[in-house]
Amino acid sequence: MNIAVYPGTFDPFTNGHRDLVQRAASNIFDKVYICVAENSRKDTLFSLDERIELAKRSLSEIENIEVIGFNGLLVDFAKELKAKVILRGLRVVSDFEYEFQMSSMNKKLNNGIESIFLTPSESYAFLSSSLVKEIAELGGDVSEFVSKEVKEAIQRKYK
Ligand code: PNS
Repeated sequence: MNIAVYPGTFDPFTNGHRDLVQRAASNIFDKVYICVAENSRKDTLFSLDERIELAKRSLSEIENIEVIGFNGLLVDFAKELKAKVILRGLRVVSDFEYEFQMSSMNKKLNNGIESIFLTPSESYAFLSSSLVKEIAELGGDVSEFVSKEVKEAIQRKYK
């Protein structure tokens, strides 16, 4: 079975994340685990449980996926799940340095797990969780960028 983990902070899960999962799960992998990181170095707007719940709700109709939280090293978690692939999105050139560093380090930590990158669909190339939060905080409309559940959750946070 061809299993991938798709790790991230997902604070919050966007339509760009969703597009990537959908393409990976329908065209490439038998199973995709969306792995929501607890111990990311970032300060998050949403708690781990909230981020998991919002990802689940944004992906409810896709079958061969599972959303799980994790703590600790990604390569160890991937091994536990029997995943041979770490899937990441690569949007713009500025993403490259960070992704290159992370994939090289993950490879060093576990040589049996490959990182694979998907570019976003054109309409999501500019989308990021941070921009969505900033727009929502300043009263802008984010309906185009996130699911209805995520939009409502952000609005509650910034009320
Ligand atoms: O969406 P993000 O914030 O860019 O995701 C970063 C993430 C969660 C993929 C990365 O921080 C991670 O893998 N964290 C788990 C801890 C770990 O394995 N660190 C070593 C990475 S080389």
